[in-house]
Amino acid sequence: MYFLSRYKDYTPLWSDVAALKQTSRQNVVRIIAALVLLAASAVLNVYFIYKLSHRWFTTPLDNYQHLNVHPIVNEAFYSSLAKPAADETAVVTCMYTDSYATAIANLGHSLSRVNSTARRILFYLPEHISDEALCIASATGFTPHPVSRIAPPHNGEGTHARFMDAYSKLNLWTLGDEGVRAVVHLDADTLVVRNFDELFALPFNFGAVPDVYVGSHGFALEFNTGVIFARPSTEVFRDMMAKMQTASYDGIQADQAFLNQYYAAEAVRLPYVYNANLAIKKRKPGMWEDLRNRTRIVHYTLVKPFLAEEDNSGKTVLDMHSLAENVRHRMGEFDGAFDEELQTWLEVWNETYRIYNDALTQCGSIKSRS
Ligand SMILES: *[C@@H]1O[C@H](CO)[C@@H](O)[C@H](O)[C@H]1NC(C)=O
Ligand SMILES: *[C@@H]1O[C@H](CO)[C@@H](O)[C@H](O)[C@H]1NC(C)=O
Ligand SMILES: *[C@@H]1O[C@H](CO)[C@@H](O)[C@H](O)[C@H]1NC(C)=O
Repeated sequence: MYFLSRYKDYTPLWSDVAALKQTSRQNVVRIIAALVLLAASAVLNVYFIYKLSHRWFTTPLDNYQHLNVHPIVNEAFYSSLAKPAADETAVVTCMYTDSYATAIANLGHSLSRVNSTARRILFYLPEHISDEALCIASATGFTPHPVSRIAPPHNGEGTHARFMDAYSKLNLWTLGDEGVRAVVHLDADTLVVRNFDELFALPFNFGAVPDVYVGSHGFALEFNTGVIFARPSTEVFRDMMAKMQTASYDGIQADQAFLNQYYAAEAVRLPYVYNANLAIKKRKPGMWEDLRNRTRIVHYTLVKPFLAEEDNSGKTVLDMHSLAENVRHRMGEFDGAFDEELQTWLEVWNETYRIYNDALTQCGSIKSRS
């Protein structure tokens, strides 16, 4: 060490070598003490940064506790409101590929099961959807409604390959021209388990449920567009189309990213029961347990019972007769965390298939005819 070796060629002016040795021993002690202090300080720093980061990145949802068991909707107040006319309300879903046809048939029946009275509108891209798939998807109450594809801005640069058609969802806002005053959009991979008519009475223009990720992002501030409440308006639609081209945002998540940017500070945060994303169950099982008996809409994000691929790519169009087998095949994913929800989806599908057997069977003959 330099500190010690610096005395090597040094001729002391005094001859008290013992004292000199004493001094260098003291130096060694001081250096060791300094090193110990340094190490302790490093350890403390790591500890405090860890503690702080926990404070910064955890939400009350990560710290979820079983506290509030009261209903989500104030029934006394809600029943005092004048309800919108059924034909001024609509549930809309979008179909971009044939592989979602059976999911939409099941979604349609799940709406009937809870006595939903709103119009059911199925947006689809005629250039991508076969007659057979459209027949299946509309067998249980959805009315097909062709829409034009809305291309992602900047020629799709920065948009995830899977979401290239997803901006077409923004056609929702054109429904004002067809007399729809309140719309609930449901992704095709959702299943309705309780009636949600109260959403149509919201006095706001836009509402959605915050997103949830199983990874480090966790409970997010951004909303998920799987379930959207909106009051359609062509004027808003035109405004969106114009601003989409110039707004600055990370567009990898397509329409969801844009809507988060557009409604930014004005979106109403809806309770999680309106978009019970499977990711919640993985992230905070206790929260899922508490939501369970109030959940209106389950969102099959992580495992889609009607798709064959583990990555939910939807490349294969499953025959409606192989759905039971497919669900059995997909059980066990995520350590079986969603087996119960998959089972629920299948129970509803079995009912759908039984009740709409004639219509669904006829769809099958479209393919054999063409
Ligand atoms: C739907 O309506 C039927 C007939 O009125 C009723 O028997 C049933 O309980 C209702 N279901 C729900 C979920 O409200
Ligand atoms: C849900 O279950 C809890 C107990 O687990 C109960 O207190 C509450 O009343 C139930 N809510 C509804 C809407 O059934
Ligand atoms: C649904 O039907 C299939 C085939 O008909 C059957 O194997 C399966 O057990 C049924 N599942 C449920 C949950 O009812």
